[in-house]
Amino acid sequence: MKIILVAGARPNFMKVAPLLEALTVAAKSHPDLSVLLIHTGQHYDETMSGSFFEELGIRPPDFNLQVGSGSHAEQTARIMQAFEPLCVTERPDWVVVVGDVNSTIACALTATKLGIRVAHVEAGLRSRDRSMPEEINRLCTDAIADILFTTERSADQNLLAEGVPSEKIRFVGNTMIDTLIRQKDRALAHPLPAGLRAGQYAALTLHRPSNVDRPETLTPLVETLLTIAGRLPIVFPAHPRTLKNLERFSLRERIDRHTGIRLVDPMSYLEFIGLVARSRMVLTDSGGIQEEATYLGVPCLTMRDNTERPITCSVGTNRLVGSDPQRIKAEAFAVLDGRVAVGAIPEKWDGHAARRIAEVLLSQK
Ligand code: UD1
Repeated sequence: MKIILVAGARPNFMKVAPLLEALTVAAKSHPDLSVLLIHTGQHYDETMSGSFFEELGIRPPDFNLQVGSGSHAEQTARIMQAFEPLCVTERPDWVVVVGDVNSTIACALTATKLGIRVAHVEAGLRSRDRSMPEEINRLCTDAIADILFTTERSADQNLLAEGVPSEKIRFVGNTMIDTLIRQKDRALAHPLPAGLRAGQYAALTLHRPSNVDRPETLTPLVETLLTIAGRLPIVFPAHPRTLKNLERFSLRERIDRHTGIRLVDPMSYLEFIGLVARSRMVLTDSGGIQEEATYLGVPCLTMRDNTERPITCSVGTNRLVGSDPQRIKAEAFAVLDGRVAVGAIPEKWDGHAARRIAEVLLSQK
């Protein structure tokens, strides 16, 4: 059996690392199993890609498609054009895609049209917000995948409601949490940025186009965050998209002048997990960080109106606070005043998701 495992963008790498490991272990007792790792090149900066490979011990990819940035259509099309000849030459039995980025749908669509079976890891999550590019990627990938591996039971329900046959759905847990469990101690050994003390700062990430691409949305968000930073220092590793927009909308200076908020480059995985794990709270609009905060038991305020990961709210420490300044401020101050949700760890987020996935794949005819 030949498996192609696809990684493309930052949030993919921590999901792929344990899968590659589990498949490599499996190959020792299944000599007919071979695994190729493909990097689409959707993310390419050292801070957005290379550092993750190094820290997580992911071997260099067998192929890098080097597609780079572009509009959604350009990026997706470039991935498909580069991935198709590779599939034709390599003739894998399975293409395994993870998450919800453009690389996920591009490779899934290419493979399925060549008659190659597709496995989707982190299937079935739904925000029900079709203005999110990731929601379109999730819906389309799940519609064509042959096996759908889920991280929470709500995802199974979503897929069943969309007509996916139950035998295609496997609730296996969360490969991103596999990585977190493996790397947590190393992350905690990473020193905090100078001057910060555990429990006495917030970690902030912000990169969703709906929050950062327009000045009328980003400006009040930044003002709100500056108010919160008046009570609790904030560390803000900024995504390249966000940084560009802060500069474009003349918000960069406003942040730089405020002593409470520290704008820094995107962090490596260990640095970032070390930061989150010791923070008083997380402020984010990311998908995966809601899950990481839940596992780490850190209060998380998600600056979105919806989440595709509802278990982080029902079981974990996550709260949806939207983008209204008053609401965000009130919720952040509530955390500072000690009113925090006590969370638990969701079912099967136990470090063994990748092993379960490898077992299922190997049991396929
Ligand atoms: C992508 C994912 C998003 C994920 C995010 C995490 C899609 C549709 N979106 O969004 O789900 O949460 O990654 O980071 O796939 N850039 C760089 N260096 C890089 C990569 C990007 O400078 O290594 C800049 C470029 O200006 C680029 C912009 O960031 O145009 C956006 O990158 P892109 O991959 O298109 O989307 P993300 O916003 O990163």
